[in-house]
Amino acid sequence: MPGLPTGVGLTALCTARERGAENHRPDRLFEDRVAQVLTEVLGAAPRTTGLPDGHPPKDRAFAVDFVALRTRFFDDELRAASARCRQVVLLGSGLDSRAFRLDWARDTVVYELDRSDVLLFKHGIVARAGQEPRCTRVEVGADLRGDWPGALRAAGFNPWRPTVWGVEELLPYLNRAENDRLLSGITAMSAGGSHLVADHFDGALRRSVTFSAMTEVRCAVGAAWRSTLEVPDGWLAPHGWTCGLTDPTELAHRSGRELPDLFTPRAEGDGHLWLMSAVR
Ligand SMILES: C[S@@+](CC[C@H](N)C(=O)[O-])C[C@H]1O[C@@H](n2cnc3c(N)ncnc32)[C@H](O)[C@@H]1O
Repeated sequence: MPGLPTGVGLTALCTARERGAENHRPDRLFEDRVAQVLTEVLGAAPRTTGLPDGHPPKDRAFAVDFVALRTRFFDDELRAASARCRQVVLLGSGLDSRAFRLDWARDTVVYELDRSDVLLFKHGIVARAGQEPRCTRVEVGADLRGDWPGALRAAGFNPWRPTVWGVEELLPYLNRAENDRLLSGITAMSAGGSHLVADHFDGALRRSVTFSAMTEVRCAVGAAWRSTLEVPDGWLAPHGWTCGLTDPTELAHRSGRELPDLFTPRAEGDGHLWLMSAVR
C-alpha cells in the first residue's frame, strides 16, 4: 500500500471510503472507481493504518447517504459551471476522482490542490484503478494556510480566465481566520464569471447528535472540525460573490433519495447544512 497521509490528510480516505459505498447501489448517483479501489486497499491492509473502522452502523448509513448526496450536488454544479469556465480548481481535493469520471468540456484543465502526502498516496490508488483523466489534470501540492496561490500559479493556473472553484468538505478543517484568508485568495484569482461551489454547516448542526458522530471519526484521525459558518451570504457577499443555496431536502428529492433524518426539519434542532453555489 502507498504511504498513508497523516493528520487531516487521512480525512481524504474517510470521505472516499464513504463515497465508495455508492458503487454497490443499483440506483447509484455516480460511479467512483478510485473510491472503490481505496476501499479494497484499506480492506486488505493490516490494521495499522491509523484509520478508524468508521462509524457504528446507524451513523455509517447516515454518513454514506450524506456524502453521496453532497457528491451529487458538487458533480452537478461543477459540471454545469465548467461548461462556461474551462479552468477548474479543486481545493483540498483529497481522493476526489472527478477529473477521471466527469465528462468535462473539451480543453478543460482541472487543478487538484492538496497536501503533497495526500497527492502521493492518490498516485498509487489511481494507478491501481487504471484510470485516465478526462481533462488535463494538474496536481498542486501545497498547504492551504500558506502561499497556495503562488503554487497554483506556478503550476500554470491563469488568474485572468474565469475559474470554477470546488471546495468540498474542506472549510470545517480550517478555522475562521484561515477560511477568510482562503476566500480572499480565491477572490483575488477569480476573473469575472467565476463560480465557487462549497459546503459548510452551522453550529446548531455541528452540535446535533448524529452529526457529532461524524466528528468523532475525524477526531480519531487527528483532524477536528475547527469552524462553523452561520450566514453564508454574510461571508461571501463582502467578497463580491452572489450566493445561492441548495436545500438538502430538494437535493434528496431530485436525486430520488430519502433525506437522511438529520436534515428533516426539526429532527434534531434547527441546524443547517450549507450547499453553496456562488458567482462573481
Ligand atoms: C475531508 S477531505 C475532503 C477531500 C475531497 N474534497 C473530497 O470531497 O473527497 C479534506 C481534504 O482537505 C485537505 N486539507 C485540509 N487542510 C488542508 C490544508 N491546510 N492544506 C491542504 N489541504 C488540506 C486534506 O488533506 C483532505 O484531503
